[in-house]
This record gives sequence, structure tokens and C-alpha cells, in this order.
Amino acid sequence: METGMLHLHSLLRWVILLLLLVGLVQAFGKKESIRSTSLWLMIAAHTMLLIGLYQWIAGKYGLINPLPEGVTSSMGNLTYRFYRLEHPLLMLVAIILITLARGKAKKLNYKNTGWLLLIALIFILVAVPWPFREAGAGRAWFPGM
Ligand code: HEM
Repeated sequence: METGMLHLHSLLRWVILLLLLVGLVQAFGKKESIRSTSLWLMIAAHTMLLIGLYQWIAGKYGLINPLPEGVTSSMGNLTYRFYRLEHPLLMLVAIILITLARGKAKKLNYKNTGWLLLIALIFILVAVPWPFREAGAGRAWFPGM
């Protein structure tokens, strides 16, 4: 189950990035279809939050698991700091922005929707453990790679 969750979490990132790009084009292009895109985006983001919370608590770097030998504090270790604090916090902000954007999109407030989605995209791009990130935090482009 653990691996399945991680794979789903990894794969959903692409769904979210795609929906964000489509949503941005629709919002700044003043297209009514932003209503449904923003809904799917919010559903995907909230699913991500649930899976993320599970991993944050019970995953490999989860809070309930003891630190390995040699690691004295999670904040002093790059990988633990990233997965226990930086990644969840930045992603939580992004998910809140996506939720706010959905509210704006429902009312067809294109400008605010566009800006909220753009800031959310930046947060996500910064916080994803891309393969080129520092050793210890970086992960594969696709699940199972
Ligand atoms: C849009 C939101 C998010 C995106 C795009 C995202 C993306 C990712 C990606 C790509 C990975 C690496 C997966 C792999 O190893 O293949 C990952 C791992 C992880 N994410 Fe997220 N994430 C998001 C939200 C969250 C949230 C809200 C939390 C916590 C509340 C979270 C907690 C974690 C944890 C703990 C791991 C490491 C899991 C492990 O190795 O056991 N993520 N995330």
C-alpha cells in the first residue's frame, strides 16, 4: 500500500501541473471552461493533500517513524527537513491557493483566478522533489523509475 500511495502521489503531480497550465491559459484567455478545470484541479490537489498527510505521518520519513542512527534531529538533516517540513508546508500553501482559485473561477473572476493559479504553480515547481534537486531530496520523474 505504501508504494502504491507513493506512486499515486508521484503521478498526480503531472495531472496537477497539466491542469494548472490548462487553467492558466483559460483564466488569462477568459474562457468559461475554467469553471470545470478549476474543479478537477481542486479535487486532484485535495487528493494529493490526503495522500501527502498519510506519507507525512506514516511514510518512510513519517513522524511516527524513529529517526535512523546518526540522524539526531530531523531539522538538521536535509532529507528529513525537506520531507517533514519544507515540502508539506509549501505544498499546503499551493493547495490553499488552488482552493481559493476555484472559488474565484466559479464566479468567473478570471484575473484573480489566473494570479492565484500562477502563484500556486510557482510554489509547486519550487517544492517538487525533482531529480536534479540536492541528493537526498531528489526523486524520479515518474513513479517506479
Ligand atoms: C500539489 C501538491 C504536491 C505535489 C505536487 C507533491 C509531489 C511529490 C512528489 C513528486 C514526491 C516524490 C514521489 C516519489 O518518490 O516518486 C512527493 C513525496 C512526498 N510528499 Fe508530496 N506533493 C504534494 C503535496 C504534499 C503534501 C500536502 C504533503 C504532506 C502533507 C506531502 C508529503 C510528501 C511526503 C512525506 C513525501 C515523501 C514520501 C516518502 O518517501 O515516503 N506532499 N511529493
